[in-house]
Amino acid sequence: MKQSQLFTKTRKEVPSDEVSKNAQLLIQAGYIHKEMAGVYTFLPLGIRVIEKINAIIRDEMNNIGGQELIMPSLQDAEIWKKTNRWSDDLVDVWFKSKLSAGGEVGFGWTHEEVVTHLMTQYIESYKDLPRYIYQIQNKFRNETRAKSGIMRTREFLMKDLYSFARTEEEHLAFYDACAEAYTRIFNRIGIGSKTYKTFASGGAFSKFSHEYQTISDAGEDIIYVNEEKGIAINSEVLADADLSELGVTRDELTERKSIEVGNIFSLGTKFSEALGLTFKDETGSEKPVIMGSYGIGPARSMGTVVELYADEKGIVWPESIAPFQVHLVELSGGDAEIKDYAEGIYDMFTDNKVEVLYDERDVRAGEKFADSDLLGMPYRIVVSRKTKEEGKFEVVERKTGEIKFFTEEELYQKFINANV
Ligand SMILES: Nc1ncnc2c1ncn2[C@@H]1O[C@H](COP(=O)(O)OP(=O)(O)OP(=O)(O)O)[C@@H](O)[C@H]1O
Ligand SMILES: [Mg+2]
Repeated sequence: MKQSQLFTKTRKEVPSDEVSKNAQLLIQAGYIHKEMAGVYTFLPLGIRVIEKINAIIRDEMNNIGGQELIMPSLQDAEIWKKTNRWSDDLVDVWFKSKLSAGGEVGFGWTHEEVVTHLMTQYIESYKDLPRYIYQIQNKFRNETRAKSGIMRTREFLMKDLYSFARTEEEHLAFYDACAEAYTRIFNRIGIGSKTYKTFASGGAFSKFSHEYQTISDAGEDIIYVNEEKGIAINSEVLADADLSELGVTRDELTERKSIEVGNIFSLGTKFSEALGLTFKDETGSEKPVIMGSYGIGPARSMGTVVELYADEKGIVWPESIAPFQVHLVELSGGDAEIKDYAEGIYDMFTDNKVEVLYDERDVRAGEKFADSDLLGMPYRIVVSRKTKEEGKFEVVERKTGEIKFFTEEELYQKFINANV
């Protein structure tokens, strides 16, 4: 993509109404636009990052048997009354609206009710189970605080998977498989080394649930971690649980701020009983389906990456979720010969499906470099008269600042051959 064609532009000033680093940088660089408090547009660059994260999530969810669908945002009050979650007194995040034809709808803030109701159409016997259903879809929540940029918004993307099992063992086997898939997802997104599967309280059906918490001072949560043992627990568990059962003592745990990027939860038969989701077992007797729910916030994960890796110059994307692998920066000073030369390198990359953002704008070198640092692509390749004369391209790794000089052949080896 040619940078002059991007309708978004970088901004010099930090947006004064944002306090979080992720929102400040993502707005400055043109990844997102703030519509109002807690509501953001994802711009073309931002979508590229989100789509990469979603692709990783999809890959891992499909891999453990997930089947994707999209459920609606508009919610029928009737099914939520059956689980006692329609009342604003009991659920404080509802957005609701009146229908012109009479009656009320809610904007989905989670989808247990809808998916359980849906599955009553498709699950009859033990032969129809187990099933794993997921979506990547916008949720609406009337959050009171919205100070964390894209990490806490009132309309946000969530991957939510729901599991349907016959027995407790079948449920737990999937719960563990999903936990492992989550670990792979956060590793692949690039935040694995700081993300802990954290003991959280479990509700009526299991002793614990698990949150995936990423250590960061930008977090709104507090967890207690033992890095050596790889054990983390949240504050509710610290207060209630017997720590010896978890294999740690209080003084082995360090208090850290953290970001909840995902969570997994056993639901038991709470929703299936309320909404009549049953199956006939081998003996013909009718039983409620055992369920679980498994969430990840793709945008919150994206914000977390910015919070963890940005430096004083701007964003630093891991290769796995960068919008482009290469930022090709041409310093021609208007010289047609150098422009042509740079264009040739751009074509070499794009013809070979390497994702390149090509800065062919007629602006000062300093401005190009500042923008390149702000945007945060993993590699910057500079093409100038010097490059042409010496036959060497300057390649700067954004993460480390390390500079190398590559011939065209070496560029080909690193960015094209390594990719195929
Ligand atoms: N307001 C939000 N904005 C962006 N992402 C969110 C928001 N709320 C939740 N998420 C993401 O969706 C995932 C699943 O949602 P869930 O309902 O389990 O979150 P939650 O427990 O309400 O999170 P929190 O305690 O941070 O409010 C979370 O782990 C998080 O990654
Ligand atoms: Mg919440």
